[in-house]
Amino acid sequence: MQFDQIIDRKPTYSFKWEKYKGKDILPLWVADTEFKCAQPILDALHARTEHGLMGYTLPAHHEAANQAVVSWLARQYGWEISADWIVWTPGVVPAFNVACKAYCQPGDKVMIQTPNYPPLLAAPKINGLERVDIGTVQEEGRWTIDFEELEKQAADPAVKLFVVCNPMNPVGSVLSAHELQRITDICVKNNVTLCSDEIHCDLILDENAKHIPAGKVPEFSGKVVTLMAASKTFNVAGLGASFAIIEDPKTRAEFNTAAKGIVPWVTVLALEATEAAFTLCDQWHGELLTYLRGNLDYLTNEIERIDGLELLPPQATFLAWIDASGLGVDNPQKYFEDKGVGPSPGIDFGDKNFIRINFGCPRSVLEEAIARIKA
Ligand SMILES: Cc1ncc(COP(=O)(O)O)c(C=O)c1O
Repeated sequence: MQFDQIIDRKPTYSFKWEKYKGKDILPLWVADTEFKCAQPILDALHARTEHGLMGYTLPAHHEAANQAVVSWLARQYGWEISADWIVWTPGVVPAFNVACKAYCQPGDKVMIQTPNYPPLLAAPKINGLERVDIGTVQEEGRWTIDFEELEKQAADPAVKLFVVCNPMNPVGSVLSAHELQRITDICVKNNVTLCSDEIHCDLILDENAKHIPAGKVPEFSGKVVTLMAASKTFNVAGLGASFAIIEDPKTRAEFNTAAKGIVPWVTVLALEATEAAFTLCDQWHGELLTYLRGNLDYLTNEIERIDGLELLPPQATFLAWIDASGLGVDNPQKYFEDKGVGPSPGIDFGDKNFIRINFGCPRSVLEEAIARIKA
């Protein structure tokens, strides 16, 4: 099985593996996977490097990559977009920072659901804005947004932007149609721009959940920016390729103006990789989801049997947000590292009682991690 293959990333300066270099700690933190890219992506990259010239390519001119995005969104989400709505960005992190600049004035407020991905938590302050946290609550066996808090905070006229992460990182929930409608209604009523980070949307594990892009919500007359990428699913994050979908021309122009002179063009290799991922890798994608579902089942069963740990299984992503408060230790991160397992520290996302385990790895690596935790 291709996803069982262990590939040594230590000699490649991998961010994930550099952290515990020289230590016997299994790195299960930063959100890339241990899986080799699908062959059509590697072939596309080879073909492009064989051509031998790496000069400028304006992403909007790369018709094939733009068409690949259009057809992927139609196939996966029934979302019919025009290629003109696509704004390529060399990462989702720059994109939500650009959204902060584009739709807010210094001193304005930005709502962020918490816990959340650390660079997202950091974005308002970087841009001279005030962050307003919207908490996450447990409801019917999954995490969701604290809607009461969202209603209350959105009514503050200083709030101009809501950056939501859907599927949510780290909690792994997929917003339902009803929840998404509620969010958009609240944004429209209060004139708040919605920026939806959907980088994990092609990783739906719960077969009853369905991802709905924020920009697809019918009757959404407000400003909405949907951020996506092939990067997490197809393990090409190191190439830096993502895109914003912005239907409204004025909202798009504001985004482009804020990015001007700061955000570079997406590289030609990133465009080629995205094109191949979205046109030639459907079978690989299906197999990946099957493998990740197997990893998640294994992890859920094991965590259930370990005293002091609790996991609400994520509906999407390859990330498990584990409540370690039952261990009764001050520093859960250190507890796991002492056992030879390196998760992401919950404190970075906003809750020190949790850790986040990346299960996008060969099953045998996960088994080794569980054995170490149990030892
Ligand atoms: C929610 C979320 N947004 C953005 C990113 C990173 O985006 P990029 O590498 O495209 O800047 C991550 C990576 O973990 C993420 O989890």
